[in-house]
Amino acid sequence: MKSLSFRLSLVVVLALGVVGVCISSAAAQDAAATYKSKCAMCHGADGKGGKMGTKDFASPEIQGMTDAQLSDIVTKGKAPRMPAYGDKLKESEIKELVAYIRTLGKK
Ligand code: HEC
Repeated sequence: MKSLSFRLSLVVVLALGVVGVCISSAAAQDAAATYKSKCAMCHGADGKGGKMGTKDFASPEIQGMTDAQLSDIVTKGKAPRMPAYGDKLKESEIKELVAYIRTLGKK
């Protein structure tokens, strides 16, 4: 009897793990889609900078900023041309975008 409940709890733990992985990869996909629709036209699909002369997200200058600094720029914008997204995106979406900018820096 003991082994049955042990096996059951193992199944529960595994199921929770699978759900957790699915949720986090869904968030990453959302961030990629948001980036593509809202940021790529100025920053380039790979974050290397687009026609606007934006900086390479993979550069040490950008990757050297803290998550708080990056999300602050996305929330409030940056003069003169970086738009503010504080009223267009949820705080959680901005956080995911910052994480996405980090992944662009690793390529
Ligand atoms: C209209 C074009 C445009 C769009 C759209 C845009 N950006 Fe920017 N962004 C800029 C420009 C240009 C700068 C550089 C500062 C400046 O000159 O205004 C910048 C700067 C930044 C910076 C600071 C790094 C730096 O180069 O100083 C971050 C981080 C950033 N943008 C993230 C984003 C994210 C994330 C999105 C999408 C939610 C986004 N941007 C959408 C134009 C844009």
